Amino acid sequence: QKSPKPLVAGNWKMNGTTAALKEARLLAGMLEDVRLRCEVMICPPATLITSIKSVVKGAKIKLGGQDCHWYAHGAHTGDISSEMLKDAGCSAVIVGHSERRADHGETDETVRLKAEAAYRADLTAIICIGETLEERKAGRTLEVIARQLKGSLPMNAVPTNTVVAYEPVWAIGTGLTPTVEQVAEVHASIRAKTDPALRILYGGSVKPANAVELMSVANVNGALVGGASLKAADFIGIIKAYT
Ligand code: G3P
Repeated sequence: QKSPKPLVAGNWKMNGTTAALKEARLLAGMLEDVRLRCEVMICPPATLITSIKSVVKGAKIKLGGQDCHWYAHGAHTGDISSEMLKDAGCSAVIVGHSERRADHGETDETVRLKAEAAYRADLTAIICIGETLEERKAGRTLEVIARQLKGSLPMNAVPTNTVVAYEPVWAIGTGLTPTVEQVAEVHASIRAKTDPALRILYGGSVKPANAVELMSVANVNGALVGGASLKAADFIGIIKAYT
């Protein structure tokens, strides 16, 4: 079985105004000179999607949203639907990021509904799962991962419509990363329950300095990058793990 084409996606989170368009433009330029074995994606705040789309035109950069509602339209002030993201030029949407689970009370069930909404709009759902530090310390990591996987992935999740991102909550934005053995253990447990062609990303303090090591772990098929995706010079250093 050939391993799936990796994906390196940058999650800008709630960062970036029009001044950040220059980073997208820089990245597009940098990508012109490299031959990549991975796909590259930026998930900017919704306000920047259309302008980034025009700035990176022609470059091999995909666009993703950071969240979507489970309904297609209606009276849901402040929310964005998967249809809207598709219309704005996205090919994917992140659902169930731990920050959404924590800040907005999202459950495995709402995450699954959002993933289903993504499929209906022909978007790839990047479904995030990951244990907290407390759960890891209690030796419950694999149990938590199994529960989130079962609850958050729709029945019709397949490698062409779904990417799973393993993001240990304690590694996000902290500079801490799991050991390669810990990453390998969790990714193997996800692989055992999913299709061999499904992409499983690692996320949490991925930097140019640790990208090659993390991306070489068995069953790691790319990265979901936060802080280090905001500057093109850092993000390209991670992407180059796949040159
Ligand atoms: O979704 C990516 C993310 O949560 C990781 O963030 O800043 O630790 O790379 P960061």
